[in-house]
Amino acid sequence: MRSSLSDLTRSREAQKLRTNRLNRATATMNRLHGKTALITGAARGIGLAFARAYIAEGARVAIADLDVERARAAATELGANTVAIEMDVSEQASIDAGVDAAVEQLGQIDILINNAAIFTAAPIVEIERADFDKVFSINVAGVLFCLQAVARHMIARGGGGKIINMASQAGRRGEPLVAVYCASKAAVISLTQSAGLNLIEHGINVNAIAPGVVDGEHWDGVDAFFAKYEGKVPGQKKAEVGAAVPYGRMGTAEDLTGMAVFLACEDANYVVAQTYNVDGGNWMS
Ligand SMILES: NC(=O)c1ccc[n+]([C@@H]2O[C@H](COP(=O)([O-])OP(=O)(O)OC[C@H]3O[C@@H](n4cnc5c(N)ncnc54)[C@H](O)[C@@H]3O)[C@@H](O)[C@H]2O)c1
Repeated sequence: MRSSLSDLTRSREAQKLRTNRLNRATATMNRLHGKTALITGAARGIGLAFARAYIAEGARVAIADLDVERARAAATELGANTVAIEMDVSEQASIDAGVDAAVEQLGQIDILINNAAIFTAAPIVEIERADFDKVFSINVAGVLFCLQAVARHMIARGGGGKIINMASQAGRRGEPLVAVYCASKAAVISLTQSAGLNLIEHGINVNAIAPGVVDGEHWDGVDAFFAKYEGKVPGQKKAEVGAAVPYGRMGTAEDLTGMAVFLACEDANYVVAQTYNVDGGNWMS
């Protein structure tokens, strides 16, 4: 019974997704008209879907990524309202240069999405300090210091702004093999609360999105980790987590764009320091 219902949900959803993609391309509401956004880690995956959605809503977007070639290719594909910026969010000099470049090329930054992150997994007794340091320098310090650099710009300019951090369901609860990544995302939720409370006096809303399991290259990597540590065949972990989502499937990057647009526009002015689950029902809080 459960599997036939899921099959039905899946095929209905596949159809809906195709229609939604077409509709989004033609019928947006220009909710971000005249706004500018800096999105880190936007050369692919969820960040790229955010860039596409923001442009469709009338924004101009800086795609900032370590993989600058791919960021340039994405910017070329997305057209004139997009610029590519090389940025390593784990390096302060690179953050400062990237934020300066975004301000120079876009005129100002109204919206920041702290999206760049990496995944790692290992049993507790095998975690290496170098791996922990790397993940925290990107997923946690990267979020804090990009947020700081952009908040300084927003405060100096006046007029407020919107900052969205990418957390995860992994930040809501520990997982046996995912200690470091889970801890990094719990830190993002905590930073969102502190920064949200601190910056609202400047009219800067800081909030976060906690996705569940979103198919794409990130999850190809996650799947490979579980193949290694749980002896699963490639693709098995993905199939299992997808089947376990109450909605009936893994998420897509496009499933998250509605929340990313909402949190960036005026409708979210009274939303402060929150983390929203967008995960098909995996987590409730
Ligand atoms: N995919 C999921 O299931 C999922 C679930 C929960 C949360 N998230 C979070 O959503 C965000 C986007 O996920 P995704 O699936 O698109 O990931 P992804 O791995 O597909 O993309 C991450 C991007 O970040 C870039 N990046 C990595 N290190 C960087 C650095 N030091 N400086 C700048 N850029 C860097 C990569 O080049 C890549 O373009 C991440 O914060 C991730 O943790 C993803």
